[in-house]
Amino acid sequence: MGRLVIVSNRVPVPKRGEPPAAGGLAVALKDAFSGRGGLWFGWSGTAAEEPADVVRHARRAGVDYAVIDLSQQAYDGFYAGYANSALWPMFHFRLGLLSYDRDQAECYRIVNRRYADKLMPLLRPDDTIWVHDYQMIPLGAELRARGSKHRIGYFHHIPFPPWAVFSAMPGSEELIRDLLAYDLVGVQTHRDLTGLMDCMAQGTGMKLRAGGEVRFRGRRTLLRSFPIAIATQEFADLAAESVKSAESQRFATSLVGRSLVIGAERLDYTKGLPERLRAFGALLERFPEHRGRVTYLQVAARSREDVESYKDLKREIETLAGRINGDYSDADWTPVRYVGRALPRGTLAGYYRMAQVGLVTPLRDGMNLVAKEYVAAQDPENPGVLVLSRFAGAAESMPEALLVNPLDAVGMAEAMNTALTMPLDERRDRHAAIFRRLRENSVESWAKSFLAVLEGKDGAEAAPS
Ligand code: G6P
Repeated sequence: MGRLVIVSNRVPVPKRGEPPAAGGLAVALKDAFSGRGGLWFGWSGTAAEEPADVVRHARRAGVDYAVIDLSQQAYDGFYAGYANSALWPMFHFRLGLLSYDRDQAECYRIVNRRYADKLMPLLRPDDTIWVHDYQMIPLGAELRARGSKHRIGYFHHIPFPPWAVFSAMPGSEELIRDLLAYDLVGVQTHRDLTGLMDCMAQGTGMKLRAGGEVRFRGRRTLLRSFPIAIATQEFADLAAESVKSAESQRFATSLVGRSLVIGAERLDYTKGLPERLRAFGALLERFPEHRGRVTYLQVAARSREDVESYKDLKREIETLAGRINGDYSDADWTPVRYVGRALPRGTLAGYYRMAQVGLVTPLRDGMNLVAKEYVAAQDPENPGVLVLSRFAGAAESMPEALLVNPLDAVGMAEAMNTALTMPLDERRDRHAAIFRRLRENSVESWAKSFLAVLEGKDGAEAAPS
C-alpha cells in the first residue's frame, strides 16, 4: 500500500516531543496514517511580506509534514479574500455576505497552482492523495495538469448548497469542473450530497449515473457522503477527568447552584450567535422563573479577524450580551458570561459536562463537532440536554436532540425551557440513544470508509476509467 498524502490549508505540525494535536482533522486522521506512513502538506500558517520560497519539512511519529509560507498578498487575496469572503459565505447560503473580487479569485487559483508546484515533486507514484476543504478545490485539477495519475479524493467539510445558491458565484461552472478532477468527492450529509449532485448536474449539463457517479473526459468521479465523527470514548473520559480539576471546581463553585447553559465555537456569523443571545433574552423574558437561576456561558474564539463581516459580528455580540446583562442582572447574578477567546479542549470538556443545556444553534454548519462533543461529555446518569439547530449537519444523526430553527427566537427559548425542566428519565433516554450512535460511528471509520471508496476497496472502484 502506498503512502497517504493529506493536503489541508492548516497543517497541525506537532511540536517536537509533544503528542499530535488533540482536536480537529488531526484526531480524525490519527489512525489513517498507521501502517502506511504519510505526508501532510499545506500552509505553515505564516504570512510574510517576502516569504522564503521553500518547503519546510518535519517528521513526527512516522508522519512527514511539509509546509510553505504565504506572501502577505496571497494571504489577503486567497485566505482573507476569495476563500473566506466569497466561498465561505456562499457555501453557507449567505449570498448577502458574498464579496467577490476577480483579483482575489485569481489569487486563489495562483495559490493552488503554487501548492501543486510544491507538492508534485514530493509525490511517489503509488501515493493516495486526500485533499481537504474549500480552500483547495482546484488543487486536484492542478495536479492532473502536472501529470498526476494518483488516486485523488476531496472532502468538503462545510455545507454544499444547491445550484440555485452555488451559481450566484461568478466562475461557478469552473469550480464544479475542478471537482471532476477528483476520483471521489465526499461531503458530510445527505443534504449536502443532494446539493452537490444538483450542482454537478446543472453546472455541467451532464446526467448523473445511478449511485452518484459522473463521467467527464474519460474520468469517473464518485460523489458520496461521509459524516465526520469524534473519538467519543476519549472525549467522554477527558470530560469525566476534567470535571474533577481544580479549575472546573472553581467554576462550579462560582455558579452557586445555578443551572449552566453553554455555547462554544469560533466567532463566526454562521454559528448563529446573535440569534442565540436573543433567544436567551427571550427565555428570561417569557419564563421569568429562570431569572436568577440560570447562567449562560458563551465561549467565542476569535477567528478571521481580517475579514470585515467578522468584525461587525464581534461588535453585535458584545452589544447583545451587554444588553441582556443590563436588563436582567442582579448584584449577585450575571445571566451571560462571555469569554471572547478559545479555551483549552480539556477545560471545555469539563464545562460541557457541568452544563444542563448545550446550545449548538448555527444558521448553517457542515457537521458541528461541538454537538457531538457535548453529548459525549455528559454524565450518563444525569445528562444535560442538547438544543441543536436543524441546519447543523449533526442534526441528521441526532433526532433525539431538541431540534430548533435558530431564526425563531421564541421557539429556541421554549426549547431551552424544555431542556432546563426535562425529567431525568427522558434526559437519560435521549442521551443514551445519541451516545450509542456516536460510538457506532467512530472517527476511525470515517477516514477508513472514505479511503476504502477512494482506493476501490468497498467494491466501488474510484480509479480513472
Ligand atoms: C472550518 C473549516 C476549516 C477551517 C476551520 C478554521 O472548520 O471547515 O477548513 O480550517 O474552520 O478556520 P480557519 O480559517 O482559521 O482555518
